[in-house]
Amino acid sequence: MTDRPLVLVTGATGAQGGSVARHLLRSGRWAVRAVTRDPRSAAAAALTARGADVVACDLTDPGQVRRSVAGVDAAFLVTDYWSLKEREYEVARRTADAVLAAGAGTLVHSSLPEAHRRSGGALALPHHDGKARLEEELRASGSPVVTVHLSTYYENWPARRLRRQEDGTFAFTLPHGDTPLPAVSVADLGPLVGAVLDAGPALHGDVVKAVGDLLPPAAYAAALTRSLGVPVAYRDVPYETYRELPLPHARAVADMLEFTRRHPDVTAADVARARGLHPGMRTLESWADSAPEQFARLLR
Ligand SMILES: NC(=O)c1ccc[n+]([C@@H]2O[C@H](COP(=O)([O-])OP(=O)(O)OC[C@H]3O[C@@H](n4cnc5c(N)ncnc54)[C@H](OP(=O)(O)O)[C@@H]3O)[C@@H](O)[C@H]2O)c1
Repeated sequence: MTDRPLVLVTGATGAQGGSVARHLLRSGRWAVRAVTRDPRSAAAAALTARGADVVACDLTDPGQVRRSVAGVDAAFLVTDYWSLKEREYEVARRTADAVLAAGAGTLVHSSLPEAHRRSGGALALPHHDGKARLEEELRASGSPVVTVHLSTYYENWPARRLRRQEDGTFAFTLPHGDTPLPAVSVADLGPLVGAVLDAGPALHGDVVKAVGDLLPPAAYAAALTRSLGVPVAYRDVPYETYRELPLPHARAVADMLEFTRRHPDVTAADVARARGLHPGMRTLESWADSAPEQFARLLR
């Protein structure tokens, strides 16, 4: 037992939940109950070593969810669309209801802006829409919820976007023209969520954009060029071309980027506000400078 407030963190072995769990544990001011389907995984063991109470819970199992929320003071809820698919809304709804029924004072919900209605059905972003439906319902019910909208992760650049060219330079291809693209290091989410939990009721009902940078893709290429010391080029392609590229989730990524390109009003991100909550929120360039290991394999 501990006298620190207990925060339930879903997705704790993944990018978002991992960032949140590690920050809360590091702060020493929160106790963390970390949700995973497999407490024997290496990621789960690392959380246990940091002091988390790791619990076996498949979010698709209502009984396991009910048991995992007992006694929590707050929660960070992220659901993984890519494993849950069309069940995402139902699973997230049930988890949020359980967290609130357990008496949590704040639920931080990782959501994404509604896209289907806004695009007149033209863009398919099911990973937005289930989250957005829950977000709207929670706001309408006046629940003690703070919504966080994450931009695309910087971590996607070395892992998935940058391609080495035959001449040793690098390039990334996106269908985004010169429209600014909100982006963030998922590693900076933890401190942001820590600040949101500290703010408590003052932010209930609010939407906080987790964003560290808002530049046109060509400016990101220039930032990576400076940081990596090798030329990085941005290749702009039409949305219709990107959709057909032989890349993982090309269609979904194309629709997602077309949404941020067509609706900059919706996705416009308040970098200053995010930095007000977490002053260490990094730009893409400062993140690349601070995380050379992210690029080590690529540059080898
Ligand atoms: N990639 C981006 O740029 C980006 C930007 C904004 C939002 N998003 C959203 O981020 C979400 C994914 O978050 P992430 O990037 O942190 O994921 P991730 O790194 O791929 O990790 C997925 C997490 O979900 C957990 N999980 C999956 N199914 C589960 C289930 N049935 N029960 C319990 N836990 C389950 C996994 O835990 P175990 O395997 O340990 O059980 C793992 O911790 C997606 O819904 C996506 O829409 C992504």
